[in-house]
Amino acid sequence: MTQEDLFKKIIAHSKEYGFIFQSSEIYDGLSAVYDYGQNGVELKNNIREYWWKSMVQMHENIVGLDSAIFMHPTIWKASGHVDAFNDPLIDNKDSKKRYRADVLIEDFRAKYEQKISKEVEKAEKKFGDAFNKEQFLATNPNVIRNVEKINELNKRFVAALEKNDLNEIRQIIIDNEIVCPISGTKNWTEVRQFNLMFSTQMGSLSEDANTIYLRPETAQGIFVNYLNIQKTGRMKIPFGIAQTGKAFRNEIVARQFIFRMREFEQMELQFFVKPGEELTWFEYWKEQRMKWHKALGIPAEKYRFHQHEKLAHYANAAFDIEFEFPFGFKELEGIHSRTDFDLNQHEKFTNKKLRYFDPELNESYVPYVVETSIGLDRTFLAIMTYAYNEEKLADGTERVVLKLPAALAPVKAVVMPLVKKDGLPEKAREIIDNLKFDFNCQIDEKDSIGKRYRRQDAVGTPFCITVDHQTLEDNMVTLRYRDSMEQERIPIEQLSGIISEKVSLKNLFKLQA
Ligand code: GAP
Repeated sequence: MTQEDLFKKIIAHSKEYGFIFQSSEIYDGLSAVYDYGQNGVELKNNIREYWWKSMVQMHENIVGLDSAIFMHPTIWKASGHVDAFNDPLIDNKDSKKRYRADVLIEDFRAKYEQKISKEVEKAEKKFGDAFNKEQFLATNPNVIRNVEKINELNKRFVAALEKNDLNEIRQIIIDNEIVCPISGTKNWTEVRQFNLMFSTQMGSLSEDANTIYLRPETAQGIFVNYLNIQKTGRMKIPFGIAQTGKAFRNEIVARQFIFRMREFEQMELQFFVKPGEELTWFEYWKEQRMKWHKALGIPAEKYRFHQHEKLAHYANAAFDIEFEFPFGFKELEGIHSRTDFDLNQHEKFTNKKLRYFDPELNESYVPYVVETSIGLDRTFLAIMTYAYNEEKLADGTERVVLKLPAALAPVKAVVMPLVKKDGLPEKAREIIDNLKFDFNCQIDEKDSIGKRYRRQDAVGTPFCITVDHQTLEDNMVTLRYRDSMEQERIPIEQLSGIISEKVSLKNLFKLQA
């Protein structure tokens, strides 16, 4: 199956099994906005809980916050979003399609990277065990040529980004003969800046003074509350504030399903440290966050760090964690050393001191901040991408199974009475009435057991529990495991223990320690 096919299948599967629907579908949809269905919302909640507990429960010096989406509009002036939260856009005059100019260049560069990967794959096949990847990369003329092209392109691209030189960005597109994927032509407009914030009016007057913004990141809610929390929580530096919530961006090139949405959810941590210690903490958080991803059981090679080519004016270090989505390696999470920029700006705009009094130094200072910022929807897509499996079974049939980490599965166990009579549904209900205090469980009485297993595999339910006539006599049930499809007969009273051992988030937390 090609990666493109895989992506199409994930989108179709997400809809068919109640994970994700296009927003306003019966009105023909709203572009780049999505709704999470009955299984999607459970998976999303579980991912959020995994993140929240990894941050707040597992770290004594991190606390949470839930700040409002609406905030004073001057906050966005202070943070730089009003003046500089822009994307460089370019239009193709023939297709009338609009693109992010930087993304066109990045996609073009990715083609050279793909050429290198193909050369490596070919050579791996040819030389087998004797293949030395490092040596191959350093000596193969095709690889060297492509690396040179990437370096050359990067040099120009980074310089143009640093100078914010829109003409030069356009020229790079022209010089590299980058074409519109729709029309196939090079008939490009100028590059223009486009602000990504959504605005609306507060109150009844539609004057500029009443314009407020839908937050484009949750982070500013943390910055403006940092002293409230520090003082009321008697927090000592270093300490962190975690927040999850909706963010809104008027993405012009909104595509790739839930990867780039106009309304999405972020999970952000701002970690406040002593000035001068930020780069040590930056390294700590880079490592911690990678461990968090890998604990999900997704292979390490699906992730990579990507150092930012152009640092934002407020940052002194920035890396992304990229994931290999079906459309290539793309940003999943950002880890940024944001210095004291945001707090300084809020001091300046409010004329209020946002200093921390350090009892050890006996002095006050504006703390430095290390941020980790991850998209919940992108994490959802990454997890779905890896979990989606099509398997050929020994009997020649096929199944689609979502191999989700058990702790994140929307439904943990489904109880299935073999037939809908003879007291079996009542027995099933008795079992579920006991399990439901601890786990999200369902009862499934319709169709053959085989069909019911397939249905549960498709939504990633780790346990199916079958109640048969024998159950009424010996109080034992058949427990079926999703991944191995093995079945065993166990006493009903052992169910809770077995499920709880497997679905506990503890399993994931321990892998991060
Ligand atoms: N406070 C820092 C910040 O907002 P960012 O790199 O712009 O940084 C952080 O966003 C994360 O939010 C990204 O790594 C991505 O996972 C997610 N994200 C950003 N824009 C998104 C969009 N339009 N749709 C879905 N997720 C998005």
